[in-house]
Amino acid sequence: MSKIFLRGALAAVALLGVAQMAAGHGDVTPQPVNTDALPDVGEEWLTENPYREEKAGYETWLTAVQIGSSGFNQNCARCHGLGAVSGGLAPDLRFLEASEYGDEWFVERFQHGYTQDGTTKMPAFGEVLGQKAGWAIRTYIETRPEDGALDAHSERLHAIRDELASGSVQDPAALKSELEGISKEVKTASGAPVSDSVAFEASLILTDKPETWKEAADILTVGLSASH
Ligand code: HEC
Repeated sequence: MSKIFLRGALAAVALLGVAQMAAGHGDVTPQPVNTDALPDVGEEWLTENPYREEKAGYETWLTAVQIGSSGFNQNCARCHGLGAVSGGLAPDLRFLEASEYGDEWFVERFQHGYTQDGTTKMPAFGEVLGQKAGWAIRTYIETRPEDGALDAHSERLHAIRDELASGSVQDPAALKSELEGISKEVKTASGAPVSDSVAFEASLILTDKPETWKEAADILTVGLSASH
């Protein structure tokens, strides 16, 4: 399985445990996020995401999405929903604009949390997780696809999935670039240019090695069933 996919799956399992703890005891210990693979951004809190592709380059952006995925799903998903799809407990973060305006709002909440009439509705994360983790989570959130974003491609993605799962793929390079093409059309609600959709994740791991066909098929299977 791909790293992103596996992380998501592990985070989901961890989350079930955390959700049960949360129901019993209220407060939940924040889960540390390892951000060593990301470039440092200094001590001062920035007001704009430093890990967007246009600023930091593709590799750093992708690393931020992957680290942010696990950071989000372990620390934020129990209120804001798995994969940032809100179940109604807290706002749906996918709609926060991918711009400095959205960033300032994001980082304010991330750092300080939110308390109303003496009740903590959202804990503060700034001190515990640190700035790099905050921006990685931000990068992940803004690349989430919007609802129904895969619908227009659903039929073709099912066909690609079936071909990959069959184990006899004529031209893996062509499928890879088709998946890349589809992933570029999958929209985000934040306005970020690239969406970290299952088409994107499948295109990332697909090579001419047959074992990657199975992995890509699994990613598509899970993603396509989740979107219906
Ligand atoms: C215990 C539940 C809880 C957890 C955990 C939590 N939040 Fe929140 N969050 C909330 C609630 C409730 C609000 C709405 C507060 C308000 O009314 O402004 C909120 C608001 C926000 C907002 C402002 C959204 C908007 O549209 O105004 C951001 C950004 C945010 N949270 C990010 C995060 C991130 C990132 C994490 C994880 C590091 C996280 N939250 C973890 C409950 C939570």
